[in-house]
Parts: sequence; structure tokens; C-alpha cells
Amino acid sequence: MIRIAPSLLAADFLNLASEIDSVEKAGIDLLHIDVMDGLFVPNITMGTNVVSAVREHTSSELDVHLMIDNPERYVDAFCEAGADMLSVHVEATTHLHRTIQLIKNHKVKAGVVLNPATPISVLDYIIYEVDFILIMTVNPGFGGQSFIPEMVDKIKAVRHLIEVSGRNIAIEVDGGINPRTLQLCREAGAKLFVAGSAIFNEQDRDLAIQRLKSV
Ligand code: DX5
Ligand code: ZN
Repeated sequence: MIRIAPSLLAADFLNLASEIDSVEKAGIDLLHIDVMDGLFVPNITMGTNVVSAVREHTSSELDVHLMIDNPERYVDAFCEAGADMLSVHVEATTHLHRTIQLIKNHKVKAGVVLNPATPISVLDYIIYEVDFILIMTVNPGFGGQSFIPEMVDKIKAVRHLIEVSGRNIAIEVDGGINPRTLQLCREAGAKLFVAGSAIFNEQDRDLAIQRLKSV
């Protein structure tokens, strides 16, 4: 079973509540929230106040993607704001193992994020701790970018590592996901699909989500 996580970055910020309602009506129960600090990535987006507001509005799972330097500084705050899944980039935190444990102490699912150029060997000594692995299929920072096709082989390689580990770890993909790229990633082993523009740029959210789900 695959799951789709609409990325609120592509939603209309002035109407966030109705944007969330529109995707939930189409059968979504997982929302992706992109947090950017203007340092780790060039863009600045949302913080804990938006996560709390969304938490109050919905009971859907909140998948919070931290694209910030030294994310350990804000793990407590995002968990308390209502994140159900929290992911950090390998390059952003000096003590990745400790940061992952900090997330898990909150009983929140902990994820590690690999940029397109990040080698999968960084997973060797952390794979036994994480709940999910987020493979970026674009360079982080902006919505609406084109899928990097070389990431399909990376997904396959990570799936192999997970099989060897014997653990139940989901592969999530983020960036340039549409029905065509979703299919490639699903065949390679991904289970969670973040989609921003493929959903929120479409007027008919039911149709957009059905297109992704029925691949
Ligand atoms: C990019 C973000 C993505 C973004 C995806 O840095 O992590 O979650 O919203 O947007 P699309 O689906 O438009 O590529
Ligand atoms: Zn994201």
C-alpha cells in the first residue's frame, strides 16, 4: 500500500484550512510540511506556529521535513507542536545519531533525509535507529522542480540496505513526483510519496490524487 503526502508548500497559504480539507476529502490522511531556514536551503517557509495551527485543524498525520541547520535545536518544539513524523538532513546535524534519538524520545517517527548527492553509505550506522528514509528526488529548497531520474537507482540501493537490515523502514520520496515519476519510484521500492505541485496546482484535487494513487 502506498501513501501520498501532499506538500503544503504548494498550497494557498491564505486558505490553508480549506486547502487541507480539499485533499482530505480526496482520502488523504498524511500531510507534508516543509520547514526551511534560509541557511541550509536558500528559501524560508514555515515554523512551529504553522505546525501547531495545522495540528489544531486536522487529525491527519503530520510529516514535518526539517530543512534547517542544526535541527536538534528545534526537535522538541516541532514534536510538541504536533509532528507525527520528523525528518532531518544528514548534512545539517553534527551528531545525527543523537538527533534521531531525541526525536524518538518523543515517540515521534524519526527519519533521515538524503540529498541527491548524499551517498547511501551514511545510512550504515544509523539504519537500525530510523523509522523512515526520505530520498530527495530534487535538490531541497523549492517546489515545482524536475525529478532527477538517477535517484531511481538510489531508491533500489536503499531498498536493498533495508532488506539486509531486516527492519521495517519505509522509503519516502520528495520532489518532482507526478504519476509517471511515482510509478518509477514505486517500482524501485518507495512507499511514501510527497507531492506538492502535482496536487495543489490542479483545480480538481480528487482527480489529481486519484491519478497518483491509481498508478
Ligand atoms: C522541496 C520540498 C518538497 C516540495 C515538493 O525542497 O521538500 O516537499 O514541496 O514539491 P513538488 O512536489 O512540487 O516537487
Ligand atoms: Zn519536503
